[in-house]
Amino acid sequence: MPKNWKTKLIHSDARIPEGFRSLSVGVERGSTVLFPDAASVKDEWDQYEVGYTYGLYGTPTTLELAGRVCELEHGYRTLITPGGQCAISLINLAFLKAGDHVLIPESVYTPNRKFAAHILRKFGVEVGFYPPEAGSAITNHFRTNTRVVWCESPGSITLEVQNVPAIAEAAHQHGVMVVMDNTWSAGVYFDAFAHGVDVTMQALTKYIGGHSDLLLGSITTRDEKAWRQLGSTQQLVGCAASPDDCSLALRGMKSLAVRLKAIENAALELARWLNERPEIERVLHPALPSCPGHEFWKRDFIGSTGVFSLVFHPRFSKAQVQGFVDQLQLFKIGYSWAGVTSLAVAYDFHGTPGRPDFGHRIVRLNIGLEDLSDLQADLSQALAKMA
Ligand SMILES: Cc1ncc(COP(=O)(O)O)c(C=O)c1O
Repeated sequence: MPKNWKTKLIHSDARIPEGFRSLSVGVERGSTVLFPDAASVKDEWDQYEVGYTYGLYGTPTTLELAGRVCELEHGYRTLITPGGQCAISLINLAFLKAGDHVLIPESVYTPNRKFAAHILRKFGVEVGFYPPEAGSAITNHFRTNTRVVWCESPGSITLEVQNVPAIAEAAHQHGVMVVMDNTWSAGVYFDAFAHGVDVTMQALTKYIGGHSDLLLGSITTRDEKAWRQLGSTQQLVGCAASPDDCSLALRGMKSLAVRLKAIENAALELARWLNERPEIERVLHPALPSCPGHEFWKRDFIGSTGVFSLVFHPRFSKAQVQGFVDQLQLFKIGYSWAGVTSLAVAYDFHGTPGRPDFGHRIVRLNIGLEDLSDLQADLSQALAKMA
């Protein structure tokens, strides 16, 4: 049929050579997915079962990233979300209903805590917080209506390493599902499913992306039942990740092993050096005995990453601690972590229930890929200016 040029803008007859092969995963964008005929049209989310039906449920780029994360975490299947926090809320929406009780460690990532306190409670879910050190004593926190217990190990900012197998054993005896934020380990330094976890999530924004230029999350399940519950919830919540971001994450993933190794070595070296400094009372790094739960890190993890915290000596005021951060030149100040740039953020725990009494004295560092001696020199000059 002859076509006007305006129609050709939409239905082109141009042809290009076939057979392009490259080392990168193609970026497949699309909301509309074409069906071969009228009878084939269906709105079903499980693209593994029914084939592609709608961009919301993932294009090949999204599913490639999901498959690769799942492979690394040894799970059944993975869903990709537009950010780590979205993965957290989707898990809660999928597995909790009014009248249920959820348990969350006091050391959890703050927006996870706030989602529970402000949104879950609004919908009739009972929310309880437990000390991250609970281990098998988690049993004392279970109620007859407890459905989900969250773990985050190590915890955010205060880095407590949890006894996840003990929590999982107690939870399973009570029929409670164990969900874990496994972002710190990049899903590779802690094998969550081998330690009893049922569902994991990661902020892929961090180590998998690795370059501070995207926001993505993942949820990985141990079994098909949990995967179905999550998939059907994601369909109705309608949170789809951008294939462009997934493509960036797929690129980031290729260098994950070398980035992690370099970051691990530099972070350990700096943590040990800082532990000896007179200005520092304590270094909270899971691989150091000064970190709560260090024995569980030694037993359960196969490596450490680049985020740890410093607790300054009580003689330093809030202005001095903030002054230390402001004096840093290579370490930048900003949220998120796990990129190639070193970062420092000062926190103030005064009045935060359930957190250790570090007040204004805690600073979280993210170690990037700069030269180690330059980073040490930067920390050293900022410490020297505190006196
Ligand atoms: C431990 C942890 N979990 C989840 C998130 C949320 O990830 P996102 O920023 O991708 O929403 C963060 C972000 O800082 C985090 O540190």
